[in-house]
Amino acid sequence: MLAILIPVLLFLRVIAVAADPSDFRQETNFDEGRTGPSLNVSSCPGYAVVSERQTNQGLVVQLSLAGEACNAFGHDIANLTVEVTYETATILHVNIYDSAKIQFTVPQDVVSLSVGENDPTLKDRSDLEFHHDSNPFEFWISRRSDPDRLPLFDTRTKSLPPTPIPPVIPGDNTTALDGFPLVFEDQYLQLTSALPLDANIYGLGEVLASSGFRRDVGTNGGVGTIQTMWARDSPDPIDENIYGSHPIYLEHRYDAQTRRSKSHGVFHFGAAGSDVLLLTPPVSNTSLIQYRMVGGTLDFYFFSGPSPQKVIEQYGELVGRPTWQPAWGFGFHLCRWGYADVNETRQQVAKMREANIPLEVMWNDIDLYHALRDFTTDPVSFPADQMEAFISDLTANQQHYIPIVDAAIAKLVNASDVYDPYTRGSELDVWMTNPDGSEYLGQMWPGYTVFPDWFANNTRGFWTEALRNWSTAGVNYSGIWLDVNEPSSFCIGSCGTGANLTAATIPTMFFPGTPGNLVTEYPEGYNATIWGPSGNITINGTLTFGNHSFGRLHKKRGLGAAAEPGVNLDSPPYSLHNADGFLSTHTVSTNATHANGAVELDTHNLWGLMEEKATHLSLLELRPGKRPFMISRSTFPSSGRWTGHWLGDNISKWQYMYLSIQGVLQFQLFQIPFVGADTCGFQGNTDEELCNRWMQLSAFMPFYRNHNVRSALSQEPYRWDSVANASRTAISIRYSMLPYWYTLFANASMRGTPPIRALFFEFPDEPELFTVDRQYMIGRDLLVTPVLTPNVSTVDGIFPGQGRVKWRDWYTHAVVDAAISQNTTLDAPLGHINVHIRDGSALLLYDSPAYTIAETRQSPFALLVAQASDGYAFGTAYLDDGESVQPTPNTTLTMKARKGELTIRPQGDFDVQQRLVKITVLGAGRTRPTDIRVNGKPLRNSSNWQFDSGLERLVISGLSLDLNAPISLTWQ
Ligand code: GLC
Repeated sequence: MLAILIPVLLFLRVIAVAADPSDFRQETNFDEGRTGPSLNVSSCPGYAVVSERQTNQGLVVQLSLAGEACNAFGHDIANLTVEVTYETATILHVNIYDSAKIQFTVPQDVVSLSVGENDPTLKDRSDLEFHHDSNPFEFWISRRSDPDRLPLFDTRTKSLPPTPIPPVIPGDNTTALDGFPLVFEDQYLQLTSALPLDANIYGLGEVLASSGFRRDVGTNGGVGTIQTMWARDSPDPIDENIYGSHPIYLEHRYDAQTRRSKSHGVFHFGAAGSDVLLLTPPVSNTSLIQYRMVGGTLDFYFFSGPSPQKVIEQYGELVGRPTWQPAWGFGFHLCRWGYADVNETRQQVAKMREANIPLEVMWNDIDLYHALRDFTTDPVSFPADQMEAFISDLTANQQHYIPIVDAAIAKLVNASDVYDPYTRGSELDVWMTNPDGSEYLGQMWPGYTVFPDWFANNTRGFWTEALRNWSTAGVNYSGIWLDVNEPSSFCIGSCGTGANLTAATIPTMFFPGTPGNLVTEYPEGYNATIWGPSGNITINGTLTFGNHSFGRLHKKRGLGAAAEPGVNLDSPPYSLHNADGFLSTHTVSTNATHANGAVELDTHNLWGLMEEKATHLSLLELRPGKRPFMISRSTFPSSGRWTGHWLGDNISKWQYMYLSIQGVLQFQLFQIPFVGADTCGFQGNTDEELCNRWMQLSAFMPFYRNHNVRSALSQEPYRWDSVANASRTAISIRYSMLPYWYTLFANASMRGTPPIRALFFEFPDEPELFTVDRQYMIGRDLLVTPVLTPNVSTVDGIFPGQGRVKWRDWYTHAVVDAAISQNTTLDAPLGHINVHIRDGSALLLYDSPAYTIAETRQSPFALLVAQASDGYAFGTAYLDDGESVQPTPNTTLTMKARKGELTIRPQGDFDVQQRLVKITVLGAGRTRPTDIRVNGKPLRNSSNWQFDSGLERLVISGLSLDLNAPISLTWQ
């Protein structure tokens, strides 16, 4: 959308400046302060321990500044408190805050972290241990179970010589470090910890990282990563801050001697804008992580793992586990910006049905709105009565509808203008304000806009009312899509204050597809001079492919001015590496104010989360007893409790299909596992081949939606025969796997276990997997190896397990002849995605996947068991009604196999109505069985089973087994 927004921004700046130049005082700052002094903190004195006392759960240490204040980028705070709390046996909390408690901290009702067990014995038995030195105060964390007590986190960096780090970006000297003292100022906080050289670090986001899922810690004097936490509406640039802020990382440590590994996690709990750097000083045997924040406190949680999955689960235990998804949410979703009217939207539903490509949820973008205003329908193109009829037709067919909700609310243009949400919100006093208490007026699609203040008392009620009114005025949605909630604003500052309100209405000529903003891009390798503008390709024709760059797209940035007296709300003296420069660019200004007196500078990163929580609670109220379904763009720790996420405005390029895998993996770590990319790509035109591959890849991702920008080539899956075929195949597999998906997400909601996994999550002792992010696992049992490049018919992938695991092809059930610890080349013609089944697994499936999820849920069950060499297999399946909020009746089936035997045991109170009709056992031995018994009774009818000795496969069909009672199968 950048291409769209640049002209919009320029235009808006012009009109807004004309309206009231004084509002744009920041504008002159826009590029200022980018070449300031290098970071000069070596004169900062650090802190010394004044007193300490043991508590029931840990330790409290009082610190005071150990010398003269340096006031590097703010004002040094003299007295600090360090509270060390052994929260659980695996979670250690170290909270360094200003003793006067003036700094902003995230309010408990915004993020309620689960508090610890208050168990005094934890101090002696917790897996993590806290140690510290007194003067200067430095601390480190080690693992009790590690005989060498190697530090996992270590702020003893004073022995490191000042190290001038060469700038990452020419001319940007902000990364030149000259020392590592603990700095705690009102507007600058700094904490540095040592990492092993070339550490395996994952997380810290949201980002599309050129380094891949594994972050770059730099080498010999280099900064590998600067992750800025400042929510930002930017259409998926690489290595820059984007929509969400997630200051959590996982470090995976491998011991080459023992060939064993352990993971731990570190979470900084704070909303302040921050830079997190990963770097390696020159001539050093250590890498470093450095936190630099422009506010807040140094509140850290450490998770002991020791497996990657345990770290993620422990993080979920703290911030809250993901919301339960309704079963229909796993269906296929179709959206685009540019469905002109209700008829065109309807037509999509019909065409999908005609093509027999399952469609579960139809979406509309802002086209739906009247005058681009939230909670409305356009009276001409989307009249309310027609919308109502359309949605009730969807409902009758067990399909669903989701509309977009933008963050900003239109301001009334004049006295005769009617727009109830604005009027009502004003009555209830729910808008963010300027420092002088006047309405803050930014700029979004509908013109000048206000922004809900989630801290105001009435905002939740207002929001529920607006959502209710909309749903009874024709838009009877099943879920909500929250967009642009960084929140995005197209002008800088309260540009509407005192302005002519009609002047800022966005001319739709700036929408993509209008002159000056045409959509002309195609995927890498697409040659419009050969194939024309249609996006159709000749698969076996001659394709030539250009090089596409995975390079960095850094922009210039730098330090701000030196410290000024008082707190600087507009430009904190330390200038974050926000890729938009000035913090108020393209969002609500940092000086905007909330009802509780909080300023946007402190709360900016919380806006999306607070909207998500409010919307979730509204949906619960409006659809009592039903699980809310939501997708949102800007997220923060704990967002997963309320919402899922999509990866934003990606590009119709092969590179972005690859990047979607690391995006989905990151959000597993962030405890927002229900996530997916705009399939076939959002910006630019897609083509047949890319869309074909991508429709197949996303079928194996949690959130599965095809979404497209306005005026780009249509990319619904029925548009090309090959894409239609590929989609039908992949969707049918996805729907048959629904019980497996559903179980993985139940485990996420109950235990925080990530449904999608990097290969090393499952095989943590295999270093060759630590960088793999072109393949991933669904749960424990399925390995996905997608094609991510054009014009190929094979794909290379590694098969984990170092030869100890048998991997079987999903389609043929044949065991892969896999190279050990190296890539194996697999056939991957267009329309085929490689999926492999791990041995030792038992997967409950639907035997007859259907058009909708509701119909699919009526299907009888099938069981697919892949035995390991010793006959072992194990799996569980969680079943409930698929839509009720917890607690709700549920049953878990436990499937276990050993040589010649399989048992299924149900436990729970959900009445499982569908029968088990088929059991497939892979690895069932080479000899044809002569005696097969189900629940002890011999299977007499031999036509009901087949045996394939080559595949070692026994298939028993024609069964009708009740899953509410134990089942046994034996064969010999
Ligand atoms: C934002 C969203 C995108 C949407 C567009 C128009 O760019 O990220 O998905 O289509 O706005 O509403």
